[in-house]
Amino acid sequence: MQIHSLSTERLLLRPMQPADAPALFTFWSDPNVSKHMNIEAMTRTKQAEDMISLINDLCAKDQACRWSIVLKDSGETIGSCGFNSFDFDHGRTEIGYELGYPYWGKGYATEAVRAVIGYGFFQLGLNRVEAKVEPENSGSIRVLRKLGFAEEGLLRQYEKSNGQFVDLLIFSLLRDEWTDPSVR
Ligand SMILES: CC(C)(COP(=O)(O)OP(=O)(O)OC[C@H]1O[C@@H](n2cnc3c(N)ncnc32)[C@H](O)[C@@H]1OP(=O)(O)O)[C@@H](O)C(=O)NCCC(=O)NCCS
Repeated sequence: MQIHSLSTERLLLRPMQPADAPALFTFWSDPNVSKHMNIEAMTRTKQAEDMISLINDLCAKDQACRWSIVLKDSGETIGSCGFNSFDFDHGRTEIGYELGYPYWGKGYATEAVRAVIGYGFFQLGLNRVEAKVEPENSGSIRVLRKLGFAEEGLLRQYEKSNGQFVDLLIFSLLRDEWTDPSVR
């Protein structure tokens, strides 16, 4: 698929491109950020280039897609968000997002994720957006609650993190529950 750029009050969400690698490497190499994404902190820009290339290949095959999040005022790339996987047979996807540490706590993630979810429901025709999050990731859980996600339960020992099985909370939002008429 080809995704489009999205515009919000303060942000431009641009389909991820190879030129974003140096900025995204800064975030993906920061343990504060990567530990919640369940990836090893990157050590070389080439790893970010490879990640972007993988995501764009998956997007071409309708399996995933991701936007870079850019501040309109300064043009800085501050993070990324998108859909980690699609199940079009069942109208379902999983959301993923991260911001560079200096940009946390300013409402940017909520603003970006709201736009992406609206795109998923109304442009891609999806019905259910899922999010899986570590119980201690309070900032991420707050973002989901602000957007109206419902907590469905605990996926016990769902994935391995640093060699240990860890539990994840699962949240979801349904198209029928979307109450923001400005984001469609
Ligand atoms: C999760 C993340 C994207 C949130 O980004 P953000 O721009 O700070 O999010 P927002 O500012 O839109 O909202 C964060 C909310 O959580 C709150 N919050 C942040 N840290 C918190 C904490 N430790 N405890 C409780 N609330 C917290 C903020 O106060 C804010 O709520 P408010 O608007 O009611 O004040 C960012 O922290 C991040 O990139 N984390 C690492 C990657 C990650 O966890 N990705 C998600 C994986 S599921």
